Amino acid sequence: MIIEPRMRGFICLTSHPKGCEQSVINQINYVKSKGAIDGPKKVLVIGASTGFGLASRITSAFGSNAATIGVFFEKAPAAGKTASPGYYNSLAFHTQAEKAGLYAKSINGDAFSNEVKKQTIDLIKADLGQVDLVIYSLASPVRQHPVTGVLHRSVLKPIGDTFSDKTVDFHTGIVSEVTITPCSDEDIANTVQVMGGEDWKMWTDALLNAGVLAEGAMTVAYSYIGPDVTEPVYRKGTIGMAKEHLEATAFEITEDLAKIGGKAFVSVNKALVTQASSAIPVIPLYISLLYKIMKAKGSHEGCIEQIQRLYSERLYTNGGIPVDEKGRIRIDDWEMDEAVQKEVAELWKGATTENLPTIGDLNGYKSDFLNLFGFGFEGVDYAAEANEMVEIPGLI
Ligand code: NAI
Ligand code: NA
Repeated sequence: MIIEPRMRGFICLTSHPKGCEQSVINQINYVKSKGAIDGPKKVLVIGASTGFGLASRITSAFGSNAATIGVFFEKAPAAGKTASPGYYNSLAFHTQAEKAGLYAKSINGDAFSNEVKKQTIDLIKADLGQVDLVIYSLASPVRQHPVTGVLHRSVLKPIGDTFSDKTVDFHTGIVSEVTITPCSDEDIANTVQVMGGEDWKMWTDALLNAGVLAEGAMTVAYSYIGPDVTEPVYRKGTIGMAKEHLEATAFEITEDLAKIGGKAFVSVNKALVTQASSAIPVIPLYISLLYKIMKAKGSHEGCIEQIQRLYSERLYTNGGIPVDEKGRIRIDDWEMDEAVQKEVAELWKGATTENLPTIGDLNGYKSDFLNLFGFGFEGVDYAAEANEMVEIPGLI
């Protein structure tokens, strides 16, 4: 069928298989253009189908010739209904990996469950023996706890005080005031359950106990800090409490991994347009101002540029891994640059519906958003019939 974007709220209901393929090919070409990384050889990526996780899988495979196992939760296509973009991305990844002679297998299911953890361990045992890198890149609004069975829902709310500030509806470009009432205590606990470190530790415990982590294996999870303007809803809000928990969990996992000489790290990444971040109030306005400034400075990066730099300049250099005073890897350094942040803060104060198209990169935001679903890529004929029913061979 001919596939067009169909927007509803913060999501797009359709995705384009050819466009997703182009997105993956572009990312592969970027990684190849940067040269070989003396990096990981056998990699498990949890949350491997979109955003930072997909970029991690691509960098592992095409930057470092690694065999990869990907875990994700994506919708397969059905008659007349496109798959979710992560499904088509993963199909394209498999196709390109096979062409390049690289091992790639994927598991589509709930990473929070014991069952998917067991399936993953069985697959590692059968095909790879052990892995030397585990990337943990889940972003989910819900988690069913594998022990209690409780379905936890994360919320994006401030803690303590009502928050009011500007936001933009990036579809219409309208800048308005948003007011978010503070969360309850249960909201904090639930958000920590979903986006905190417990599941990451459950994964590493399970992998370690099964003997499928190689000597010296590393595991890396992703976090975010961001500027003052987003602090009440992000870093000091419910999601920030989950990120604090995730960051603290890195130290616990490092202790567990001591017996194999392994280590756990959190990498603080840059704010980027992904399905996860588009749903957070205030962030899209911040991102559109940030993009404008970073693009003008030549320091703008997308997920693939961020992760290629994480591997080549942080994780796999000949020296040690540089971390901040809290033990975190920082690849948000260019975002958090003082001059950049000062400019964002100034533009923020004066931002209106009228001036945002000029002072901010609203078009960049919109085009990145469409790209997430495989739309807007050069070299793709969107007027042509596309086969939405394509399937990932061997998907578990
Ligand atoms: P994303 O939405 O692009 O990717 C999420 C991934 O998790 C997908 O592969 C999805 O299939 C998978 N997933 C979700 N629920 C699952 C489940 N139950 N079972 C198995 N797989 C599941 O998100 P993004 O933005 O790449 O986020 C990844 C991490 O990076 C998150 O921890 C996020 O907080 C962090 N981060 C994001 C930033 C941003 O601006 N987007 C900035 C800094 C950090
Ligand atoms: Na991801």
